[in-house]
Amino acid sequence: MTHRIAVIPGDGIGVEVTRESVILLRWIAAHHDLALDLWELDLGADRYLRDGTTLPTSIFDEIRTSCSAILLGALGDPRVASNDHARDILFGFRFGLDLYANIRPVKCLDDRLSPLKHHGASAVNMVIFRENTEGIYVNVGGQIRRGTPDEIGINEDVNTRKGVERILRAAFDHARTVGAKRVHMADKSNAMRHAHELWLRTFREVAQEYPGIEPVHVYVDALCLYMVQDPSPFEVIVTNNLFGDIVTDLGASLQGGLGMAASANVHPGKTPAMFEPVHGSAPPIAGKDIANPFASALSCGMLLTHLGRPDLESRIEAAVRDCIVARECTRDVGGSLGTRAAGEALRARLAARS
Ligand code: NAD
Ligand code: IPM
Ligand code: MN
Repeated sequence: MTHRIAVIPGDGIGVEVTRESVILLRWIAAHHDLALDLWELDLGADRYLRDGTTLPTSIFDEIRTSCSAILLGALGDPRVASNDHARDILFGFRFGLDLYANIRPVKCLDDRLSPLKHHGASAVNMVIFRENTEGIYVNVGGQIRRGTPDEIGINEDVNTRKGVERILRAAFDHARTVGAKRVHMADKSNAMRHAHELWLRTFREVAQEYPGIEPVHVYVDALCLYMVQDPSPFEVIVTNNLFGDIVTDLGASLQGGLGMAASANVHPGKTPAMFEPVHGSAPPIAGKDIANPFASALSCGMLLTHLGRPDLESRIEAAVRDCIVARECTRDVGGSLGTRAAGEALRARLAARS
């Protein structure tokens, strides 16, 4: 069976890291008995500025019906101050395909990458489940009296029982699959009495269905403290859309930075799913061949697991670790290679392990 993969490099360093990931996927397909049809799409800021296109319905429909996965680079360009194209494309897929679970592993691959004085790589190994279709991101709200001294801007935080319940279940299901002892749920139910009381009550109810897994409630501000003080107790964390966005950048810092943080956007049991590094388009370093391609490579690993090849995800992770240990990597993680050379080093390490 041939898997069709939609590839959207997007903007800035998204283009550079995705270029390496496409070469990586082609290499893996050629060497590991995998048929991939990579369909590269010209969507992003350049296209938007050229002809106003963001995410055409025809392309969305074709991806929905013919693709197993989407590989996304990053979206965001200083020339598009409104960020309209990025929201249309990114949320077009997250919301349009109902990819409600944003799965962001936080795993430190080498002691050298841990920024913590008292904890090495072994203390950092968790998966964050971020709700991906609701919360403050639904853009319910509006502005009134815009441009006057009395203007008002409102974004409503929308939380549904169905939406909360399914992301909690996804987190507990994952915990059961990997044999995790506990699931942490982070909210602000002490301040947000309505929406987050719903989270807390649903968390306690869903947890009843998973005996043997301890449900631990934590306020998100304290979670930030604990993650930096000692990340070792955390195995699975589940939280809402906005908190998940913020906490996963904090998590990235525990694994060597955004250049090492991978993610998947999934609707469990459905296809296509979307895979992307946690980082953005990093305009200040774009076009300089210095961006770390490993976060995108690790996201390709998650994509390959989605295609039924977890063996290939393990190989990519092992090869990334080899590169980090040997300092065959970019500057952000202590090496001296450029983006292309780091991509090449990764393929060489993969070949050496084959
Ligand atoms: P960013 O992730 O682009 O950059 C944050 C910091 O991390 C910068 O210092 C950057 O140089 C560094 N960094 C990020 N990725 C790196 C890599 N692979 N290698 C080395 N260093 C790396 O976040 P930002 O600066 O807040 O946002 C820039 C643009 O990206 C904005 O338009 C934002 O909206 C967008 N963005 C898009 C996505 C996405 O498409 N999924 C995600 C996050 C941010
Ligand atoms: C992410 C990004 C996006 C988000 C931005 C670009 C809208 O920060 O994927 O983490 O907030 O979800
Ligand atoms: Mn983010």
